[in-house]
Amino acid sequence: MSIQFDFSNVMETNIGSTHGLRLDELESLTILGKEIQQDLREKAKSNELGFYNLPYQDELVNEITQYAEHVRKRFTHYVHIGIGGSALGPIAVHTALRDSHYNLSESPKIFFPDNVDPDWLEELTRHIDVSKTLFHVVSKSGGTAETAATTLYFMDFLVKELDENFYKNLVFTTDPVDGLLNQIAREYPIKCFRIPPGVGGRFSVFTPVGLVPAAIAGINIKKLLAGAADMAKRCDTDDLMHNPAFLFAAIHYRYMQREKNISVMMPYSNKLRDLADWYCQLWAESLGKRFNINKEKVETGQTPVKALGATDQHSQIQLYVEGPNDKVVTFLEVESFKNNAPLTNHFTYIPEFDYLNGKTLGQLLNAEKSATELALTNNERPNLTIKFSDVSEENVGAYLFLLEAATAFAGGLLNINAFNQPGVEEGKIATYALMERKGYEQKKQQIETLLAKKKTFLLK
Ligand code: PA5
Repeated sequence: MSIQFDFSNVMETNIGSTHGLRLDELESLTILGKEIQQDLREKAKSNELGFYNLPYQDELVNEITQYAEHVRKRFTHYVHIGIGGSALGPIAVHTALRDSHYNLSESPKIFFPDNVDPDWLEELTRHIDVSKTLFHVVSKSGGTAETAATTLYFMDFLVKELDENFYKNLVFTTDPVDGLLNQIAREYPIKCFRIPPGVGGRFSVFTPVGLVPAAIAGINIKKLLAGAADMAKRCDTDDLMHNPAFLFAAIHYRYMQREKNISVMMPYSNKLRDLADWYCQLWAESLGKRFNINKEKVETGQTPVKALGATDQHSQIQLYVEGPNDKVVTFLEVESFKNNAPLTNHFTYIPEFDYLNGKTLGQLLNAEKSATELALTNNERPNLTIKFSDVSEENVGAYLFLLEAATAFAGGLLNINAFNQPGVEEGKIATYALMERKGYEQKKQQIETLLAKKKTFLLK
C-alpha cells in the first residue's frame, strides 16, 4: 500500500512564475510550521486534539469487531442516523471499500439517511424490515435537529413493531456524558459507543462514528486504522518539506494569499467519489472562519468543490482550463484497479476503435486524468495529485488522516480555530427557534423582527 503526494504542478518550474510557487515560498513557512506542529503535538498529547490519537485503539477495534459480528447475525438492515461529520466519513468509507451495489446482495443492508426529506425517508421505510433493523443514532451533541427528528420518525415504526422492546434495535454513538441521547440511554439499556471529547464531528471517522458501520459492512477496520497510523507517522516528521500534511496546507495557504479561493477535489475513481464529499465538509467547516485567534475579522477560507473524473471532464473542466484561474485542483488517482481486463474491438470494420483494443478501462481513466492534468498545467492552473496504489483499507485510512492533519496545519497557518463551527451552531440555533424549541423564544422573536423588516422580491 502507498499514498503518494505529487505537488510538481504547483511549482513555478512547471506552471510558470505568475501562478506557480517557488520552493522558498513553501520553505519559508516551515518556521511557522514547526511552531504549529509543536502546538498540535501538545494538544494531541493532552487529548485536546483527540483525532491524532485515534489510529491507536486496539481495545475499541476488538469491541467493535465483536459487536459487528453480533449485529451481522441478528439484523438484516442497518440504518445510520446522523448528519455532517456524523455521516460523511462513514458514507465515504462505505463507498470506497464496499461494492457499489452492496445492498443488492449483502446483509445487513446499509442505509445512510443523512437528511430529513420526508419523501426520501418514507421511501426507505418501504425497504427495511423494522423488526430486523438496527438504528444507529450518531450525534456528538445529541441534540442536532435533523438527527433527533429522523430518530423520532423511525421510532414510530419501531414502537409499532416492537412495543416496549424498541430499544433493542437501537445503538447510540455520542458524547461520553453530555447530551440528550445519554438521557435516553439512562432510561433504557441501550448500547452506547463514545466519541472522545477532544474529537469534533468532522474529525470523527476513526471513532465508532465511522468504525461501527464499517465493521458491520465487513470492512477491516484494523487495516483502516493501520493505514491511518502509517500516515500519522509521515505527518509527524519534523522535516516539513517531506511532510505531506504540512505541504498540502502550505500550498493551499499560499494560494489563498493569491486569491485562489477554490479547492477542487477530483477523484478519477467512483470508489473515491465520496472521499471528496467528506473533504469538502472538513475543509469548509474547519477553515471558513470570520475571526482569527486574535479575534480580528478575517473572513477566511477556501470553497471546496467536488468533481468526478472522467465524468466531470464533460461538465466542469472547460471552466477549470479556461475560466478564472482561481482554483487549486487536487486529483485522486488510483494506480491499480482490482478489475481491469483488456477491451476487445468487436467491430473490426471500425478501425477508429482499434486504439482501445487491448487497453483497459483503468488505462483510459488514468490517461484521461493525465490529459486533464496536462491541460491544466499547460494553462498555468495549479494542480496536485494524491496517488493511491490501490483502493484498500490502508490507503483510505491514510488519505483520511492526511487530510485531517493537513486541515489542522492549515488552521495554524491561517491563525484560526479549525476545530469549532460557530456558523453551523448559528444555523442550528435558528432552526430550534423556528421550530419553537423551548428556551429559544427570544431568538424566535429576533428572527421575526428581522423577517418583518425584509422586503420581498418574489415572482409568482
Ligand atoms: O463537524 C461537525 O462538528 C458537524 O458537522 C457535526 O458533525 C454535525 O453538525 C452533526 O453534529 P452532531 O454530531 O452533534 O449531531
